[in-house]
Amino acid sequence: VHFERIGIVGCGVMGSGIAEICARAALDTLVVEVDDAAVDAGRRRIESSLARAVERGRLDEESRARALEHLSFTPELKDLADRDLVIEAIVESAPDKIEVLAQLDDIVGPEAVLASNTSSIPIGRLALATTRSERVVGLHFFNPVPVRPLVEVVPSLLTDQAVVDHVSAFAAEVLHRKVVRAPDRAGFIVNALLIPYLLSAIRMCESGLATAADIDAAMVEGCGHPMGPLALADLVGLDTTAAIAASMNEESRDPAHACPPIVTRMVEANRLGRKTGSGFYEYRQG
Ligand SMILES: NC(=O)c1ccc[n+]([C@@H]2O[C@H](COP(=O)([O-])OP(=O)(O)OC[C@H]3O[C@@H](n4cnc5c(N)ncnc54)[C@H](O)[C@@H]3O)[C@@H](O)[C@H]2O)c1
Repeated sequence: VHFERIGIVGCGVMGSGIAEICARAALDTLVVEVDDAAVDAGRRRIESSLARAVERGRLDEESRARALEHLSFTPELKDLADRDLVIEAIVESAPDKIEVLAQLDDIVGPEAVLASNTSSIPIGRLALATTRSERVVGLHFFNPVPVRPLVEVVPSLLTDQAVVDHVSAFAAEVLHRKVVRAPDRAGFIVNALLIPYLLSAIRMCESGLATAADIDAAMVEGCGHPMGPLALADLVGLDTTAAIAASMNEESRDPAHACPPIVTRMVEANRLGRKTGSGFYEYRQG
């Protein structure tokens, strides 16, 4: 049988999107945030995303109302006791995630599966924070979750094959995701390929070999990419790009994963890309 009662821990950029697709799939979805103010902010994030989907004709009014009926919120982790799948999407900090997973292990029933949306922390390390390492798996969604269908299912060396199959079937059939099986290595599949590409485009620009606009135009017009690498780095955020590169570099010691100095300087100057209005390009409000 499929999972029916879903818990989501953390309702920021990713948790809110994961909660939204669960509620839209008519699953009983209970979302945990740190306190009442964060609960309110998380709820508003989901409500405005649903409103946007209606405005853009991707969702009808009735489905929006039904999704909202399937969502509830709490500041108490212990309220997740009856959940059969809990997806953790809190900040990317190993000590924080380890603490939350250890607490969840005590709270949920013995059959429940614990999943993490981590981008870079080894799933095996998170699994060892629990007494159910065979029932812990990575579920790495993409931003914005309601729009990007991919999910990387990441088993650790300790994950039960039946759990991997169950979670994969659930993600495909109930959440309508495109599922790929990814290795428990920094970067999984997508970032392992994408980050070295973005960093080499940045190095090409940094060394003055070509302008940002020409590099982006080359990949858009010559290779049919929807967006060039420097515009994409601005969209991902240069802080996020640098952080993913750092964890891949820590694991691999591969120079292809080393962060170019220009990115470090831009992060220090808070030129993080679109979100701060300035990166490889300038962005004006609206
Ligand atoms: N942003 C992306 O593009 C992206 C893509 C894929 C995966 N991820 C991963 O998803 C996770 C979340 O990232 P995000 O971008 O949504 O971050 P975010 O900062 O937007 O949201 C994190 C939320 O977690 C909450 N939180 C922190 N500690 C908590 C706790 N103990 N209990 C409950 N809630 C808690 C915070 O209040 C915050 O609202 C990270 O592991 C990140 O690496 C991010």
